[in-house]
Amino acid sequence: MALLQGARQLLGKMTGAVPIMVRPDREASPAAEVELLTPSRALRMIRLNISFAPLVGSMPPSCLDTPSMMSVPEKQFLFGLASRHYAGKGIIVDAGIFLGASTRCFGEGVRSNPRQEEILRKWPRPIVSYERAIVNPNMPLFFRKHGLTFSAAQDESFESELRRNIAPVKDLVDLRIGDFMDATDLGCPVEVLFLDILKAPGLSLRAFRLFYSKLIPGRSLVVHQDYFFEELPWIKTHHEALAAYFDFVGEIGSSAVFLCTKEIPQSVVDELENDMPPADQLRLASIAMHRSADPARRFFMALSKMRLIRKLQGRVAARAYLELIKTEFPEQVAQTDNKRLSHALRRAEAILVKKPRKQRQEGMRAAEQHVLSP
Ligand SMILES: C[S@@+](CC[C@H](N)C(=O)[O-])C[C@H]1O[C@@H](n2cnc3c(N)ncnc32)[C@H](O)[C@@H]1O
Repeated sequence: MALLQGARQLLGKMTGAVPIMVRPDREASPAAEVELLTPSRALRMIRLNISFAPLVGSMPPSCLDTPSMMSVPEKQFLFGLASRHYAGKGIIVDAGIFLGASTRCFGEGVRSNPRQEEILRKWPRPIVSYERAIVNPNMPLFFRKHGLTFSAAQDESFESELRRNIAPVKDLVDLRIGDFMDATDLGCPVEVLFLDILKAPGLSLRAFRLFYSKLIPGRSLVVHQDYFFEELPWIKTHHEALAAYFDFVGEIGSSAVFLCTKEIPQSVVDELENDMPPADQLRLASIAMHRSADPARRFFMALSKMRLIRKLQGRVAARAYLELIKTEFPEQVAQTDNKRLSHALRRAEAILVKKPRKQRQEGMRAAEQHVLSP
């Protein structure tokens, strides 16, 4: 219950929407102040540090041309970052771009950035985008649901569709098609780091190793698109292990935004490769859970921690923790008409059922068919 009460107290202290002010030359201030923009439905809340909240504003309609798994406010934020925060002190890294929506937002943003000329003199292609562009088992359903004329079967390439979507900004983009595990050091500072590719612990470690020591203190933002997602616990533990180098800037969609405040030595990032003691991993998962002021996002973070417990301590311990979650989040469990919440709980239950491996994979795939974008 403490989890819910903490969120309510935090919400109670917050006021309404912020005035939209744009100060492109301002330095990012520490995340001491937060502002609630939309005290709205579960998983829809936008809460950002007051320096960054104005970045969520209007964007060109072309930013919506590309079908995506992100919410509209997340796209607005990416556009706002590239058009009004980005100063060309480093590059923009966009990793895991699927059909190219985030790259298109960044590209349109750079085009309308008042410092565009200066930026392009320094970085002729300031956006570096990574994508394998191979259809995975869930993508054909996404193509159908979004009524795309383009279609490709599992294991086929969707590179042509991705290139078509980012064509209007392609002169600004260094597109790297291939397995991210083969990505190499870019050798330059990273001012904006957008990560939606950390789908396995190895990918996460790779991204942290490649980019975290390249962040610019006081300027670089890291946007973890899967932070408030009910799975992928390693994203939370890897990032929270380095929390001393960041301020939490806020939450938008399933993204968490962090401002780098101190240079991160490569040796510290490399330490992540060494297995963290289980007790530390669990402690970091708990810290991550308290980042959000939205009880529904906290519920997701608790489910993510349950997955970590399953890995570290086994099914029985994870089952006990899931039962505790149900008592601590009664409102979220009761919202059976909210498809995202009920889907997350169903999937959590499913991984605790002892089934032959093949049957479990089929069950998970069937559940996938009901997932909605946050
Ligand atoms: C959740 S999707 C990104 C969604 C995208 N941000 C959007 O809003 O539409 C994750 C992407 O990461 C890509 N990906 C996953 N593993 C990868 C790898 N090892 N190398 C390169 N790309 C990878 C997938 O192909 C997929 O397009």
